[in-house]
Amino acid sequence: MTSPPERLSHGQVRLRRWRADDATVLLAAVIASQEQLRPWMPWADRYDENRAAEYLHECEAQWASGNAFAYAIIVGDQIVGSAGLHNRVGDGGLEIGYWVHADWTGRGIATDAAAALTDAALALPGIDRVEIYHDAANAASGRIPAKLGYARLGDQPTRGLWPAAPGETGTDVVWQFTR
Ligand SMILES: CC(C)(COP(=O)(O)OP(=O)(O)OC[C@H]1O[C@@H](n2cnc3c(N)ncnc32)[C@H](O)[C@@H]1OP(=O)(O)O)[C@@H](O)C(=O)NCCC(=O)NCCS
Repeated sequence: MTSPPERLSHGQVRLRRWRADDATVLLAAVIASQEQLRPWMPWADRYDENRAAEYLHECEAQWASGNAFAYAIIVGDQIVGSAGLHNRVGDGGLEIGYWVHADWTGRGIATDAAAALTDAALALPGIDRVEIYHDAANAASGRIPAKLGYARLGDQPTRGLWPAAPGETGTDVVWQFTR
């Protein structure tokens, strides 16, 4: 599929495609945010230099294949989180995922990042639908699509795309924004 731009911006944030040389800053952000990530992100435990490097390598491969487009979220000159578009919700759709460094939450950063990604997704040929999935217990995550005017489609059993994280209930809330 056609790739979105490597750089995006919205409000206070800029998004820049992750690069292989971001491993040190990525590792530091994950380690600083581990307590907040652990309930929802199964990969957050036992994070180390190798896992950061592997993730960035995977980002390059997925960008090339069109499976996912992952960006560092930047405020000023600091990387403050990660957000991306995932090609896993069927034809005509892309899914947004995000996490924000624990020192930077509560300032609208995930909302601005998701707004940039929503616009970028809907600008791609053949994409007319953007979705956000979050665990039913992850109320903070649910605020992002709600604030952006996504429609709440309802609850469904988790898709089981990865091993369950400790905070997950097994029920996802699905939100959708259409062109
Ligand atoms: C979810 C997350 C990305 C939000 O990032 P953020 O930059 O703080 O998001 P925003 O500031 O744009 O909005 C957060 C909203 O959640 C609300 N919030 C924060 N903690 C909350 C909680 N425990 N319960 C309910 N709402 C909460 C905030 O008040 C805000 O809503 P408001 O603007 O209506 O007041 C961040 O907390 C995070 O990285 N969490 C861990 C990873 C994760 O869960 N990722 C999403 C997986 S689906």
